[in-house]
Amino acid sequence: RRRLTMAESSWPGSSPPCSAWLSSTSSAAPRAPHAKMSSSRLFSSTSPAPTFTVRTTRSTSTSSCDYSEGQWVRAAGHARRYNGTECNVKGSEDCVRNGRPDTSYLDWRWQPAAPGCQLPGFDAGAFLGAVRGEHVAFVGDSMARNQAESLVCLLGASFPYHLVYSDPEPGTRKFWRWAFPTHNVTVSVYWAPFLARATGRCENYSLPYNSVHLDALAERWSGDAGTMDVAVVSTGHWFWNPSVYYNGSEVLGTHLLPELNHTGIGFLSPYREAIRASIRRLASAGRARAVVVATFSPAHFEKAWDDPATCARRLPYTEGEREVDATHAQLRSIVREETAAAAATDGGATRVEVLDVTKLATMRPDGHPSVYMKRDPFARGVPERLQSDCLHFCLPGPVDTFNEILLQLLLTKRE
Ligand SMILES: *[C@@H]1O[C@H](CO)[C@@H](O)[C@H](O)[C@H]1NC(C)=O
Ligand SMILES: *[C@@H]1O[C@H](CO)[C@@H](O)[C@H](O)[C@H]1NC(C)=O
Ligand SMILES: *[C@@H]1O[C@H](CO)[C@@H](O)[C@H](O)[C@H]1NC(C)=O
Ligand SMILES: *[C@@H]1O[C@H](CO)[C@@H](O)[C@H](O)[C@H]1NC(C)=O
Ligand SMILES: *[C@@H]1O[C@H](CO)[C@@H](O)[C@H](O)[C@H]1NC(C)=O
Repeated sequence: RRRLTMAESSWPGSSPPCSAWLSSTSSAAPRAPHAKMSSSRLFSSTSPAPTFTVRTTRSTSTSSCDYSEGQWVRAAGHARRYNGTECNVKGSEDCVRNGRPDTSYLDWRWQPAAPGCQLPGFDAGAFLGAVRGEHVAFVGDSMARNQAESLVCLLGASFPYHLVYSDPEPGTRKFWRWAFPTHNVTVSVYWAPFLARATGRCENYSLPYNSVHLDALAERWSGDAGTMDVAVVSTGHWFWNPSVYYNGSEVLGTHLLPELNHTGIGFLSPYREAIRASIRRLASAGRARAVVVATFSPAHFEKAWDDPATCARRLPYTEGEREVDATHAQLRSIVREETAAAAATDGGATRVEVLDVTKLATMRPDGHPSVYMKRDPFARGVPERLQSDCLHFCLPGPVDTFNEILLQLLLTKRE
């Protein structure tokens, strides 16, 4: 068997698979509003003198702004909106607590390229007001979870909330749910890395490949589709793994498994099929007001996966320094095409939107936990080999911007 690189085979979910560093899955205590919490409390010991106070910018309707292209510009304190430890983010994404010494990755905002377009900073009151009484569900892989946790923290910095459900399996964060009682809002996350029903490696990391049934959606989320008012679908990385794809009992083909003697079908058509079927399910469930599909957010492994410097960049890429990879662009196009097709044909009450984060995520090699996925990684000197997370984003971090765009999509009236 050929050896798989970390980026191909194991992310998300290499050892420690899915494991929260945090062993605790207990409820986050309901908390008082933190809107007036100063950034000095958030970042007292680790950051330069903070200049930031929580913004309450009124988000104005920015209909027809395109946020998919643009550049990161310096904005002191823009992403210093919450303390990841206090909102109980997955331990491997709590970069500040884990001892990441630089925090300037929190001092950038996304400037859309489209003339006259600004992306307002996140406004928790506007978000909760836009989804009052609703269930906001994130469905997909660990990037969906990363964005869900970002949203809970952004909202939780200003409004009380509590964890109402966490999966009993210790150390995993596959199915969590939070409540924001002031607005009767529920936020939840459903882990379904292929969206479709899948077994094998995604359930047990010692197995070599996945078996994915493209004719059936993963049960947990699709069973709840009728309860979702806003569904954010976000996935991609698992499709790079070796997999057998089925339609009923028929093998459609395989990816990276020539030894099984089936047709190699790559992963683009399975990805398209999974996205298409998911949109169809959500739009037909009779409930969803908005189906938002996120485009692929790429990883930034630059060296061997266990090289301590595999993602050691400390600045965003500048315009022209880095292009979107061809395969990432293909995944992005699939989401754009499938959302556009669904939006054109649906005609019902459901809006289908694309949350195009590929470019803005591509430009943020500095925003990942890297070796600070573990606490104090250099406490005993610099080891030769050390695992890094160059895929998920630190919380707080660039993924907060995904939610800034999500807010604008929800606020924008359908034409
Ligand atoms: C974040 O909150 C934790 C728990 O309250 C606290 O120990 C820590 O000092 C805070 N971190 C920063 C950077 O303020
Ligand atoms: C909260 O929202 C649910 C629907 O999501 C609704 O059935 C319920 O009546 C609401 N409760 C209050 C107190 O508004
Ligand atoms: C995972 O797969 C391995 C190899 O087949 C097996 O020995 C092990 O029992 C499985 N673990 C679980 C939790 O099913
Ligand atoms: C699966 O098979 C059915 C007919 O049996 C067909 O209509 C459908 O298009 C197939 N799906 C895929 C993804 O090939
Ligand atoms: C694949 O084909 C080769 C050559 O015909 C054969 O030796 C091998 O047993 C086949 N493998 C499977 C899993 O059918």
